[in-house]
Amino acid sequence: MLSKTPPMGFNTWNTFGRNINEQVIKETADAMVEKGLLDAGYEYLVIDDCWSERERDPETGKIVPDKIKFPNGMKAVSDYVHSKGLKFGMYSCAGTRTCDNYPGSYDHEFLDAQTFAEYGADFLKYDFCFKPVSADGPNLYRRMGMALKACGREILFSACNWGNDDVSKWIRSAGAHMYRSTGDINDSFASMRDISMSQIDNLAYSAPGCFNDIDMLTIGMYGKGNVGSTGCNDTEYKTQFAIWCMFSAPLMLGGDIRTLSDDMLALVKNKNLIRINQDEEGRPAFLANGANSKCKAFAKLLSNNEVAIMFVNIGEDDDSCNFYFEDIGITASSGFGLELTDAFTNESIGVKKEFMRFPVKAHDCAVFIGKLAK
Ligand code: GAL
Repeated sequence: MLSKTPPMGFNTWNTFGRNINEQVIKETADAMVEKGLLDAGYEYLVIDDCWSERERDPETGKIVPDKIKFPNGMKAVSDYVHSKGLKFGMYSCAGTRTCDNYPGSYDHEFLDAQTFAEYGADFLKYDFCFKPVSADGPNLYRRMGMALKACGREILFSACNWGNDDVSKWIRSAGAHMYRSTGDINDSFASMRDISMSQIDNLAYSAPGCFNDIDMLTIGMYGKGNVGSTGCNDTEYKTQFAIWCMFSAPLMLGGDIRTLSDDMLALVKNKNLIRINQDEEGRPAFLANGANSKCKAFAKLLSNNEVAIMFVNIGEDDDSCNFYFEDIGITASSGFGLELTDAFTNESIGVKKEFMRFPVKAHDCAVFIGKLAK
């Protein structure tokens, strides 16, 4: 089964946009291995939009790789990525053209899935631009879902319709393994805050086999690259990673792996956070308190009778977040509480019960892994 846990990898869009080529992909593949990201679980290297010629081959009808960007074709790139132990991802679009106006797969779904299988692709991101008005959005994802099943290769299907058509309700039935539920992220705290918090009510539509994708991470971009905006500071990137992990979101890195700082590398390789994200039960986080406040508490049940707790301050002022243990199901009368270990420092803060208040600076967060204890 694909997507047993949220997929992890790297996607070219946030940093490179149109400026992708064989060299960049090879260097990224090298860096993913050398910097320990593959070992940490980041296995997919996905080429986003702008990889092909502007028109299909008139004779075969196939999409063809840009001859200047990929002079040796896509199979050679895929072979290189595979030789590093990574998996290879491609991109196309459910409409007639991709978002940056390259050929889309509309009415060429089966041929294109076959082409991606010939490249040795393991992943397909499938966008939603240039959808003919007469076409039914959900049906277009069903078509590619079927085409991938017919292509003779196991390919993870990453749907990207930005939350249209109430996507969380039907996308799993179309065969997708992850699905974008929101518009594009940019590299700012506001963007990542609004995108992630918009999905609080949809976190249960995310489970082994198909996960709610709140877009590629911008960690380590500091405002550079293709998606623009002001950039975030390290505290804000820490909060971004914590939210994505707690929300069981796919962890697709978007910053330039070749130049990621040691601090940002350590952040995205944090074993406790990744364990929360990759927990095999894939249970959704839920709001434990703070629905009407900027200081929110989330809980997520983990396997082994553990519970992850995240306090996150999305407001502009330092604050303290709190929750009643009763509200996550641990009654005061039971005598139970949680023995909490800080996911960032690995330090135990002892057993907490009944009520907990925790100071959190503006845009910061705190994450704990708790074991039921008296
Ligand atoms: C958008 C998509 C982005 C990126 C871009 C490429 O629709 O949401 O993640 O793939 O298209 O043009």
